[in-house]
Amino acid sequence: MRKALVIGNWKMNGRQDANEALLNALTSGYDNKLERVDVALCPPSVYLAQAQSLLQAGSIELGAQNVCADVEGAFTGEVSAGMLAEFGCRWVVIGHSERRSLYGETDAQVAEKAKRVLDAGMTPVVCVGETLEERESGLALQRVQSQLRAVLEEVPVEHLAELVVAYEPVWAIGTGLTATPEQAQEVHRALRDTLAAQQVELDEKVRILYGGSVNAANADALFAQPDIDGGLIGGASLKADDFLAICRAAAGES
Ligand code: PGA
Repeated sequence: MRKALVIGNWKMNGRQDANEALLNALTSGYDNKLERVDVALCPPSVYLAQAQSLLQAGSIELGAQNVCADVEGAFTGEVSAGMLAEFGCRWVVIGHSERRSLYGETDAQVAEKAKRVLDAGMTPVVCVGETLEERESGLALQRVQSQLRAVLEEVPVEHLAELVVAYEPVWAIGTGLTATPEQAQEVHRALRDTLAAQQVELDEKVRILYGGSVNAANADALFAQPDIDGGLIGGASLKADDFLAICRAAAGES
């Protein structure tokens, strides 16, 4: 059985006072039933220390939204995997579509980042997703499978089962448009086929999250799909009640 996983991606949102209110609301609303789910938050990296100290006694874990593909040195503006690990991150989102489309990140860079994250003892959350044009041209499955293969081919075989994959259709991110549970399930199934083709039984081990306008109202139906193991949550992760409702849906408690 794969344990459900819900990760909040704050993107470039936050302020110290608002973060504190949100983190306190999340920790006080968190109950034992959520132990059935791995729950993590990815604040902007400058707030990791604040989040680490406010979350320290609880079960909500920390992650990062991005990482440098290099280990250390003259890379102005970048943050290394070692630094993220030092501030208590367990998860690192890599290859988010905003990184790919706005900052030109390539499949090869995403694969390098996955290796740095694993080397630092953390878990890469590898994002894949098709654009609307690709979906309308019937290329969605091909697109996401090739994005995933680019990482699978580079990660050492003994670490493959540690990966987490997040399917985030680009057209559904921040748009209020969600893939239907059936559309998402079809893609998740195809991603599992790619995992199985890489290594025997890898499809059964790797968690695949859905992301793209997940909210408290649609989470249940998405998480009820057999190949959806949880969610990567953007906008709704900034509201404690909504995020907790999504976590409860992943725990089968709503
Ligand atoms: P959204 O973002 O939930 O706001 O659509 C999801 C994501 O980009 O991870």
